[in-house]
Amino acid sequence: MAIRADVAAQRARACKAFMAQVHSTTAKEGITPSTLHALKLKLVALAKRADLFPLADFAMPDAQGRTYPLLVEENDGHGLYLTIGLPGKEAAPHDHGIWCVNAAVSGQEQHVFYRRTDDGRRAGSATIAKVGEVMVEPGSGMVMADHDIHSTEVVGDRPAVGLALYGYALARFPSVTWFHPEFTSVRATLSRRHAA
Ligand SMILES: [Fe+2]
Repeated sequence: MAIRADVAAQRARACKAFMAQVHSTTAKEGITPSTLHALKLKLVALAKRADLFPLADFAMPDAQGRTYPLLVEENDGHGLYLTIGLPGKEAAPHDHGIWCVNAAVSGQEQHVFYRRTDDGRRAGSATIAKVGEVMVEPGSGMVMADHDIHSTEVVGDRPAVGLALYGYALARFPSVTWFHPEFTSVRATLSRRHAA
């Protein structure tokens, strides 16, 4: 148990140091494509320290996926989480409304990126087109600006374990927009921006 407690303390220190780096990067320049890229490199470096994130400390989900808070800032700050997705877990194309950065600890998750191609004037209707894809696996990550659109799928036969940094904590998330390209439809979840 002593060793596990040590790992938890080391993990907490590493997450705190990471968040301090995030703030020192964005305090000067704000959230821009280049600062988001810098945050991705820092999160990939943290995720490479797999010894800090032993699966013994994070129970597997019973189905689909599970998210563990690592460092959630107070008020309107950022949220850093460990995420586990079981093989085959999928998410349809969606826009979080807030930037995010992902990096893999283990396993593989395929991210496909899209852009919206309609003018947004017809309520409930939307079309999207694929613009790229990234395999998030150990040594790599991905980054999204506030209104980028992605879909995800855990591929292979192992769970995908990763780190996720969001501009806002999940409990204070804005509305997430879900796209259903096969029906050219779109719907938005309720914002949690004023819930907490
Ligand atoms: Fe997402």
